[in-house]
Amino acid sequence: MTQTIHRPGGTSTTPLVTDIPNLDTPPPYVRELASDDGHQRIELPSGHSAICLTSYEDVKTLMLDRTASRTLCNVDGGPSFMPTNWAPEVLINLDAPVHGVVREFVSHEFGRRIQLARRDEIPLIVDSWVELYGWVQELVADDSEHDDTGLLATYKRRARQPEFAAVVDTLISGTVMRIVLGGDNNVATMLGKTLYASLAHRDLYSQVVDDPSLVPDLVEEIMRLMPLGTPGSFPRELTRPLNTTAGPLPVGEIVYPHINAANRDPAVFDAPLEIRLDRPRGRHLQYGYGMHRCMGSALAQTELIAILTRVVTRYPDLALRVDPSDVEWDLGTGLRRPAVLPVDLGVRGIV
Ligand code: HEM
Repeated sequence: MTQTIHRPGGTSTTPLVTDIPNLDTPPPYVRELASDDGHQRIELPSGHSAICLTSYEDVKTLMLDRTASRTLCNVDGGPSFMPTNWAPEVLINLDAPVHGVVREFVSHEFGRRIQLARRDEIPLIVDSWVELYGWVQELVADDSEHDDTGLLATYKRRARQPEFAAVVDTLISGTVMRIVLGGDNNVATMLGKTLYASLAHRDLYSQVVDDPSLVPDLVEEIMRLMPLGTPGSFPRELTRPLNTTAGPLPVGEIVYPHINAANRDPAVFDAPLEIRLDRPRGRHLQYGYGMHRCMGSALAQTELIAILTRVVTRYPDLALRVDPSDVEWDLGTGLRRPAVLPVDLGVRGIV
C-alpha cells in the first residue's frame, strides 16, 4: 500500500519529515533566554546558560575548534542535557592533547574487525551500564582472559609502546565502553528510525525495494534529519574566543552545537524538511565534525546499509501492522526511537 501525503496546494510523494507521525525530533529541552547581542541564548536542563549555534557554518566552526573543552563541562554539576556527568575517560569527554593520543591509539582497527570478548562470554553481558562498564574494566585489567588476536589484546600490546605511555587502562576502558554503546544502541536506534520512516511513508520503502542501490541514499537522508536522541551533540566550554556569524564569543562561554538545526540549514540543504533520495551525499553533520567526529561512522554506515539492503530484498511487501501514529516511541534524551515496530512480513517474505 502506498501512502500519499496530502498538503495544502497539492499532493506529493516527496514526504516532509514533519508529515510522518512522531518521527521529527522536537527541539532539545531548553528554555530560551532573552538576549540582545544577536546570539541565541538558552538555559540547559542542568540550569546553565549557553549559546546555541544553529547555522551549518557556526556548528562546523565550533566543532573544528580543538580548544573548545568537553572536559570542563563533564564535571559534577556541569552544563549538560543529562542528569549526571559521564565517565571522564571516554573519548567524547577528553580534550587535546590526550584526546588525540587516545584517538590515534584506538582508531587503527576501525573499518576492519572488532572483537571484544569470546563468543561464549557475550550472553553474560548485562544491560545495566554500571555492570557493563565493570565488565569492560575487568576485561581490560585481565590480560589472560581474551583472545590474543582480539581488540583488547591489541590495545594492551599497543599501550606498551612509548608514544602511547599516556594511555593507561582507565582510558582504554572508557574508549572500549563507548565503542560497545555506540556499536549497539546507536546503530539500533538509527535502524529503527530509518525503517519506521520508510514504512510510514510506504512510497519510500517501495522505492528502495524497486532499486536497492538507493538504500545508502535513504540511510543518508534519514541520518541527516534525525539525531540519535533529542540533542545530537554535547555542549563545550570555550577556552579561547570563537568567531561566529553573529559575532565573537568570549572565553568561558558554554556553547551547544545544534547539529539537527545545522542539518536543516536552508543555505546548505535545499527544501531541508523534504526526505529526498537524490540529494548529494556526505554533507550532513549527524556524526559530528572535527576532533570528536564519530569514530564508528564507517562501521555504522556499513551495518545500516547491509541490514536494510537485506530487509528490502527479503521482505519486499513489509508493512506496518498498525497506523504509524499508533507506533510507540522511546522518548529518551540520549536515544529517541520507536520502542517496537509491529510489521507484517508480506506474502513474498523469505523466512
Ligand atoms: C548511526 C549511529 C551513530 C551516530 C548518529 C553517532 C553520532 C556521534 C556523534 C554526533 C558524535 C560526536 C558528538 C560530539 O562531538 O558532541 C559521536 C562520537 C563518537 N562515536 Fe558515534 N555515532 C554513531 C555510531 C557509533 C558507533 C557504531 C560507534 C562505535 C563502534 C561510535 C563511537 C563513537 C565514539 C568513540 C565517539 C567519540 C569520538 C571522539 O570523541 O573522538 N559511534 N558519535
